Amino acid sequence: MGFKVAVVGATGAVGREMLQILAERAFPADEVVPLASRRSQGVEVSYGDKTLKVKALEHFDFSETDICLMSAGAAVSKEWSPKIVADGAVVIDNSSCWRYDSDVPLIVPEVNADAVAGFRKKGIIANPNCSTAQLVVALKPLHDHARIKRVVVATYQSVSGAGKEAMDELFAQTKAVFTIDEVEPKKFSKRIAFNVIPHIDVFMDDGFTKEEWKMVVETKKILDPKIKVVATCVRVPVFVGHSEAVHIEFEEPISADEARNILRNAPGCLVIDKREPGGYVTPYESVGEDATYISRVRDDPTVDNGLAMWIVSDNLRKGAALNAVQIAESLINRKLIQAKQKAA
Ligand SMILES: NC(=O)c1ccc[n+]([C@@H]2O[C@H](COP(=O)([O-])OP(=O)(O)OC[C@H]3O[C@@H](n4cnc5c(N)ncnc54)[C@H](OP(=O)(O)O)[C@@H]3O)[C@@H](O)[C@H]2O)c1
Repeated sequence: MGFKVAVVGATGAVGREMLQILAERAFPADEVVPLASRRSQGVEVSYGDKTLKVKALEHFDFSETDICLMSAGAAVSKEWSPKIVADGAVVIDNSSCWRYDSDVPLIVPEVNADAVAGFRKKGIIANPNCSTAQLVVALKPLHDHARIKRVVVATYQSVSGAGKEAMDELFAQTKAVFTIDEVEPKKFSKRIAFNVIPHIDVFMDDGFTKEEWKMVVETKKILDPKIKVVATCVRVPVFVGHSEAVHIEFEEPISADEARNILRNAPGCLVIDKREPGGYVTPYESVGEDATYISRVRDDPTVDNGLAMWIVSDNLRKGAALNAVQIAESLINRKLIQAKQKAA
């Protein structure tokens, strides 16, 4: 007897990917139920080679559900996650709603899978921001080897990180540029087609954006509170795949060659670093892939024990849907949950 899994936000960029990944990985589900807002009731979504009809979250009874993968934004999660937990399901949430709650584990399985056991306090597990997820997958094995002191990161984030409407906006604007129509920013503050925007999420009092703040706070919670992080988060006209230019300072010596070897053997990491034209990964090649790709690893001669590198991953997968499904797998593998029907 398998699990009953609900996917909330199943019509969205992340939710659709979750359904795909559950099927791809042969997740032990007897039943998968796609849920979204009332607007989407009856919409068809793919689950492997099956087509499922979306149901409305507000009318759904979670009493037989074991696992709820939530991907419908912070407001929906704030209202619904406690109710779903009260009905006896574990919630794995993709929004920022619960990430900073000390009673909610924030998990990237390659980094801190053992912390999932902490889900019992609130019944909720949080998934990090997409930029943080791929960053910590690459930082963890290097930190274990030479202790990271400080990270300086600039991101090049695709529009899918802002959801399906943002993808439609890049498409519509790109078309408008070619047909010499008016280019209208809606979701983004400025035109995104053939442009880059150094602003993701809201501005904070210190001038950083919330997206930049998230990378700092989440890296500390997942990996090590002692690591200092400073980020500049930039939206680029790429549909899927986030890239990051990362500069790392370590306590102890580590060379680019050592780092490459460590990363080659690290879970979730794939090193493609040929030091020739095309011998690196771009976001386009990361689409549909599970790996966090590391390229352009160099010694940084401007600081003691410094490295520079380029990190790329599919934000909808490792940054969101894949990570959430891996968290669910960690719960099952550790026997921390069992299917309600089996238990009955
Ligand atoms: N995109 C990424 O790379 C990424 C990475 C990490 C985390 N996240 C987070 O994941 C969440 C979803 O992101 P997304 O990119 O998939 O957004 P999206 O494409 O805009 O999809 C949003 C989904 O939420 C559903 N929804 C909205 N309001 C609802 C309501 N009142 N009740 C039920 N369902 C509702 C939508 O259903 P309708 O179609 O019916 O409106 C849709 O299925 C966000 O919290 C986001 O911050 C995204």
